[in-house]
Amino acid sequence: MRVIAIVPAAGRGERMGADKALLDLAGVTAIERLVATCRAAGVDDVLVVRRDGAAALPAALAARVVVVPPGGEMADSLRAANAALPAGTDAVVVFPVDHALVEAETVLALLATLQRPGCGIALPLFRGKTGHPAAMARNVFAEIAAPGAVLRDLVRKDPARVRVVPSANPWVHADLDHPEDHRAAVCALHGEPWSTVAQMFRHRSHRAYKPDALAAGQLERLVDAARYASTSSFIQAYSVVAVRDARVKGECARLCAGQAHIVQAPVFAAVCADLHKIAAACGRHGSELQAQSFELFLQATVDAALLGQNLQLAAEAEGLGACMIGAARNHPVQLAELLGLPKHVYVVFGMTIGVPADDPIPRGRMPLAGVLHLERYDTAGIDAVLDGADAGMRVWSKRTNAERGGYQGRPVSETKGWSERMAAMWGGGSDYVAARQALVDELRRLGFGLG
Ligand SMILES: Cc1cc2nc3c(=O)[nH]c(=O)nc-3n(C[C@H](O)[C@H](O)[C@H](O)COP(=O)(O)O)c2cc1C
Repeated sequence: MRVIAIVPAAGRGERMGADKALLDLAGVTAIERLVATCRAAGVDDVLVVRRDGAAALPAALAARVVVVPPGGEMADSLRAANAALPAGTDAVVVFPVDHALVEAETVLALLATLQRPGCGIALPLFRGKTGHPAAMARNVFAEIAAPGAVLRDLVRKDPARVRVVPSANPWVHADLDHPEDHRAAVCALHGEPWSTVAQMFRHRSHRAYKPDALAAGQLERLVDAARYASTSSFIQAYSVVAVRDARVKGECARLCAGQAHIVQAPVFAAVCADLHKIAAACGRHGSELQAQSFELFLQATVDAALLGQNLQLAAEAEGLGACMIGAARNHPVQLAELLGLPKHVYVVFGMTIGVPADDPIPRGRMPLAGVLHLERYDTAGIDAVLDGADAGMRVWSKRTNAERGGYQGRPVSETKGWSERMAAMWGGGSDYVAARQALVDELRRLGFGLG
């Protein structure tokens, strides 16, 4: 079977603001990735339809170009490709550049299905919805030549000739329309294969790191994605100061209870609540920031925390490890000076990010009944919740001692449960409370009035 892939890539990519075929997808252009996928699936040749005057495709691209006048529709591109198909073509794969993250195995499966009796069109199916690319018998695709025909008509005309092929690749549905779609595609190419929710369940805080630096552009990509967290009233009251310099990381560690993983990790990211930009916005419009507002302090702190959690999840999704560092509030004024924070900015928490060198036993969490209440808060279940939390903590301690030789180099008590630990931390005589007694005053000095 002689198969030709047809890539309609004649549009201007106006919503994207760039030529989609030439988008960079983790080091190769979208069209290069797509052509390589076709070749890997045994496609004999690739026809790329480009508008007259479009930018040149990469020189070494193993594809032929069909030129069409600007301003046409996708169906016009397909008609031009149909007219240019070489004699002896048995089948085509219509492969829009939006779907450049589809893998060769999907194309192979489509072509295998197309050879079954009665099949004229094979479409990938992801979660009950068909997508692209579409494999078609030559004679079926030829129907596109009819004036006004569009690809959808070919599929709808005769459902009996259409077969669907289950695919595990969500990119059969993708559109690369907006810059965010492009960034999501790049992240997916760097990412772990787990779904977001699976990734959440895989979370562990990492406290030892390999010396490897983050890849070029990785930090920017992670923070870029993280800042798409929801933000109260669109205030975007956060910022991140990423420290890579060993000396400055050392100073940060000193101010954060001497935690060694801050020095070891290639990046210490200070996640800040940041009203500086809103203060500047007020100034620009002849007004003054109401920095005494406790509500505004809370909004900025929540905003920063949401960004921080997103950042950790994004890092984990790329195979990195991270650990939040609340000890950044031990000496907030000195840390702010060290990082050059302007007034109205404080570090809510830090975060070590890098390639993990440890393999911590997952901590688990207290029973879900202690967190999820249906319709009304259930206080009656508190003893069962504490029992469950205590038991979970003891299991974790035993495993950590037995399988990891302790926690941070020291044996953990196997008898203390969660409730006893919380009582020691936050009950009468709490060192934690004593240690942060100055925090309100320190936050005031940093420009947060707190009501
Ligand atoms: C805001 C915040 C601050 C934290 N501060 C520290 C810290 O200073 N040092 C540290 O080693 N871990 C810190 N952690 C990590 C917690 O100890 C950890 O999330 C918790 O024990 C649960 O373990 P897991 O994340 O591995 O599931 C912090 C976590 C949060 C959310």
